[in-house]
Amino acid sequence: MLKGKRIVVGVTGGIAAYKSAELLREFIRREADVRVIMTKNAAEFITPLTLQTLSGNPVFCDMFSLIKESEIAHIALAEYGDMMLIAPATANVIGKIASGIADDLLTTTIMATKAPVLLCPAMNTNMYTNVIVRENIEKLTARGYLFVEPAHGELACKSEGMGRLAEVSEIVEEVESILTVKDLKGERILVTAGPTREPFDPVRYITNYSSGKMGYALARIAERRGAEVTLISGPSSLPVPRGVKFIPISSAVEMRDAVMENLEASTVIIKAAAVADYRPVVCSNAKIKKQDGPLAISLTRNPDIISEIGKKKGERILVGFAMESENLIENAKAKMLEKNMDLIIANDLTEEGAGFQTDTNIVKILSRNEEIEELPLMNKAEVANRILDRVKEIITRKGFKGSRG
Ligand code: CTP
Repeated sequence: MLKGKRIVVGVTGGIAAYKSAELLREFIRREADVRVIMTKNAAEFITPLTLQTLSGNPVFCDMFSLIKESEIAHIALAEYGDMMLIAPATANVIGKIASGIADDLLTTTIMATKAPVLLCPAMNTNMYTNVIVRENIEKLTARGYLFVEPAHGELACKSEGMGRLAEVSEIVEEVESILTVKDLKGERILVTAGPTREPFDPVRYITNYSSGKMGYALARIAERRGAEVTLISGPSSLPVPRGVKFIPISSAVEMRDAVMENLEASTVIIKAAAVADYRPVVCSNAKIKKQDGPLAISLTRNPDIISEIGKKKGERILVGFAMESENLIENAKAKMLEKNMDLIIANDLTEEGAGFQTDTNIVKILSRNEEIEELPLMNKAEVANRILDRVKEIITRKGFKGSRG
């Protein structure tokens, strides 16, 4: 998602400067084009050579260096970036920007840029809570500068508190969000994810191998693309994507109830959950003791949630998944038509790299106009983007705006 994006990373002089190396690696891994500006003090903590080697580009430290013959560095860098990021951002650099001081390459470039600027403060707790720093952050926020709050934890000065540089993953997430076009703004997307658990006594249940990865990726990317997202999820160990309304459930019946409660308010419903088709008829109040001979547990059908949505959806867009081990296209197509879906994402359980637990997926997207889009092996975030592209296409084609019922 950061492929080809131009990011100018400013590094200032704090102990967390070494973490900028890790941050750069993440950007490079995502194929972003990164230029680094270091302050004089930052170079006391980490060498320009380290950041130059990681970014694959010259590192700029000097106000009076030229990029190409006559290009002035700060102007060229200010115009170059799709965004600027300062990590770590010291109290000093925050103060300088807030006061309009531009006395080195980094602050001059910040002054000259029209691109979004994200600051990731890292400093001692007392400095971070100092009223002057607070006022500077408030002032910059009001002017449209963006911040990733520092984390709480042990600090370099051995004290404990707020001030550690935010996790690299959190900073990357924020950068990806800033650089993503908000083309799903105005949509309210309901995503279901994960497995369901169908208990038959207080300590045992029937479930499946779903990890929730596909549904969580859809929720995360939809939020990033500007949608209001509600995620209804069965048990999963994944972190809840930020900015998403989260409704945890356990059984298929609970999922059905939660979905129906939220259906009316949604414009798009994406059913990525692996819902158990059956549940035990009886759930014993006491633990079932073992005994000689076999044990039989009778099962009854669970509600088919997607069919129920299909009947009530009106103009809402309904996206379902089909997991098949044979006749993938025919079975998926039949499911889509029978259950009144607009799109169905078919994956073949027999293919390596597809389906449950993996970080990747290989899917085919079938739509009602007979189109079949076959996607190669991709990570689930990319698959999520492609699915949402197709949802966006339907919204545009039908000329939908805001709520629909
Ligand atoms: N689904 C649902 N409610 C169920 C079972 C499945 O809403 N009780 C949804 C899933 O979230 C998915 C789609 O239905 O989007 C297809 O699920 P799948 O298990 O592949 O298909 P089934 O319709 O259950 O058909 P079969 O088991 O016969 O393959």
